[in-house]
Amino acid sequence: MATRVLLTGGAGYIGSHTYVALCEAGYECIVLDNFSNAAHGVPDVLEKITGAPVQLVEGDVLDRGCLDHIFHAHHIDAVIHFAALKSVGESIANPLAYMQCNIGGLVTLMQAMKAAGVYHLVFSSSASVYGNPEALPVPETAPLSYASPYGYTKLACEQIIAQAGAADPKWAVGVLRYFNPVGAHPSGLIGEDPKDVPNNLMPYIAKVAAGELPQLSVFGNDYPTQDGTGVRDYIHVCDLAAGHVLSLKSLLEENAGHLVNLGTGQGYSVLELLDAYSKACGRDLPYQIVERRPGDPAASFADPQRARDVLGFQASHSLDEMCASSWHWINTGAQKPG
Ligand code: UFG
Repeated sequence: MATRVLLTGGAGYIGSHTYVALCEAGYECIVLDNFSNAAHGVPDVLEKITGAPVQLVEGDVLDRGCLDHIFHAHHIDAVIHFAALKSVGESIANPLAYMQCNIGGLVTLMQAMKAAGVYHLVFSSSASVYGNPEALPVPETAPLSYASPYGYTKLACEQIIAQAGAADPKWAVGVLRYFNPVGAHPSGLIGEDPKDVPNNLMPYIAKVAAGELPQLSVFGNDYPTQDGTGVRDYIHVCDLAAGHVLSLKSLLEENAGHLVNLGTGQGYSVLELLDAYSKACGRDLPYQIVERRPGDPAASFADPQRARDVLGFQASHSLDEMCASSWHWINTGAQKPG
C-alpha cells in the first residue's frame, strides 16, 4: 500500500508543486486547504497534471475537529505542514493573526497528530530565522533571530518542534529552512499568483513583464554587495518540492528528524534577477531605485552542504530556468486556475 501523506496548505504555491512531486514519487496525498491564499481551481489543475483525482478537504489547520476527522477517516503515515501566513509586511501590521495561524496552527496540528499516533512531520521553516546573517553562506548553526512577527513565528515553531521532540522521542520532524522559492512548474499550469500587489521580487517583476505594473522599485542600491542591491538565494520551486520528497523519505526510513537549509548556495542581486527576467521575457524591464525596505538584510544565501549530506539534496535549476518557468506560467494565464 502506498504511503499516505497529508499536505496542509497543499493547494498553495509550494504545496501544489510538492503535491505533484510526491505523486510522481508514488506517494498518496490528501490535501487540506482553506483557500485563503490559493485558487479554488488548483485541485482540478493538479488532477490534470497528475492524471489522478485529488483527495481534498476544505478546512483549516486551526480546526481540531476537522483534523481529527481526517486522521480518523484515513490512515495517514506523515504530514507536510505548509499552511501558514507568509507576508512579512502583513505580519508587522497584524502580528496576532500570524501568531494564531502559524503558531496556533502548528500546535493544533501536532496535538491532532499525537492523538492519532502520527509522528512524522515535515515543517516549512524559513531563512528568516537567521535575521540579518552575520556570515555568508549561512550554515544551519548560524545565530538565530528575527526581524518581523512572521520571522518570529517561524523561529517559535522550530522551538516548539524541538521541545515536543525532547518530551517525546517518537517525533521525527524534518525542519526545512527555505531560502527564496521562485519559478513555476514546467506545465505552466501552477505557479505563484499573489491575490494583491506582490511583496516579493519575482512575482512583482513578473507583473511588470506582463504589463500589469509599470516598473520595479529596487529597494536600495547602497548595500555592500556586487552592485549595491540586495542579494538572495533564489531556488526553483520544483527543486524545493524535490527537497520535501527527500525529507519525507528520510524521515520514514531513518525514523529520525533533521534540520536543513533548502537553497542553492548561490546569491543573486536584485538587478541580476531583473536582467535574467528581461532575457526570459525578451525586453528590458523598467525600474527605479528607491529607499531601502526596513528590515531587509543586505545579503542572504545558504550553505547547502548539510542538505546534501543528510538528504542527498542538490538544487539543479539555474536562474535563467527559474525566470523562464515563471514567464511561461504568466503567459499561460488563460488556463490559470480560477
Ligand atoms: N525587492 C525589491 N523590490 C521589490 C521586492 C523586493 O528591490 O519590489 C528586493 C528586496 O529588497 C530583497 C530582494 O528583492 O533584496 C528579495 O526580496 P523578497 O521580498 O522577494 O524576499 P525576502 O528575501 O525579503 O523574503 C523572502 C520571503 C520571506 C522569507 C525570506 C527568507 O518573502 O518569507 O525570504 O530570507 F522569510
